[in-house]
Amino acid sequence: MSISSLGYVGFEVSDTTAWKAFAEDFLGLMPAGGSGDQMRYRLDARAWRIAVEPGEKDDISFAGFEVDTYEAFDALKADLRARGIAFEEADAALRDARGVRDLIRLTDPAGLSIEIYVGATEVTDSPFVSPAGVTSFLTGDQGVGHIVLAASNVDEVRAFYADVLGFRLSDTIGMQLGPDTSVLLEFYHCNPRHHTLALANMPAPKRLHHFMLEMATLDDVGYAMDRIKPCGVQQTMTLGKHSNDKMVSFYVRTPSGFEVEVGCEGIPVHDDVWRVTHHEVTSMWGHKHVG
Ligand SMILES: [Fe+2]
Repeated sequence: MSISSLGYVGFEVSDTTAWKAFAEDFLGLMPAGGSGDQMRYRLDARAWRIAVEPGEKDDISFAGFEVDTYEAFDALKADLRARGIAFEEADAALRDARGVRDLIRLTDPAGLSIEIYVGATEVTDSPFVSPAGVTSFLTGDQGVGHIVLAASNVDEVRAFYADVLGFRLSDTIGMQLGPDTSVLLEFYHCNPRHHTLALANMPAPKRLHHFMLEMATLDDVGYAMDRIKPCGVQQTMTLGKHSNDKMVSFYVRTPSGFEVEVGCEGIPVHDDVWRVTHHEVTSMWGHKHVG
């Protein structure tokens, strides 16, 4: 049984005040309650999709993977048991905190806490309204966006996500870091989003290199670019178009140091016609380092 989407993500951050401004004024995420400096944000009709919580890590702290049905949830648990992979059943307090009907928690081979759940809460009586005027985020069956994880034990991480959780390879990119150094990036999908998860085979100071949010239109991305300066945000890559998912995007640094990619127009992957390819560049044009 397979995961159907990355439904939510949690970040542990040292500067919650800076993150509040970054999430609301720059990214245009909608505050969704939370308490004190435990912040929750909406991108759509879901009760929340991004959690920002205080702590010292300044990194991703958990990833929530959704399955479509209780039958799929039970089958996945049976499969984990058969493989001897340990997991913990969530108690009522954690299920309530996440707003899901059922949930298990385990640790991936890179050490990231992951949650697999079913029955997320929707709040259809309160429409998504972006405080920065973003028309909408592309979510739905494609989930919250994508995450790019750096790991030095990529073989184990790949085996977990591909063989156990059912992620499928979309393509690979050999990224040149210097004249004699390159790193292989692997892109995996679990729904039509070109990649929900990418793995970079390298040690890195943070587990998360970047996460990506896809906006509905090029105008949304353009307006977000216009907010970089007034919001005092540090841009890390210029506007560009990726070679593999054709995403038109730019990158900025979050207050935690890892980056966020703000994009649009990514191409979907359909398993019945998709062919795995390899690229030697990450971008067709643009995506030049800033600073
Ligand atoms: Fe990305």
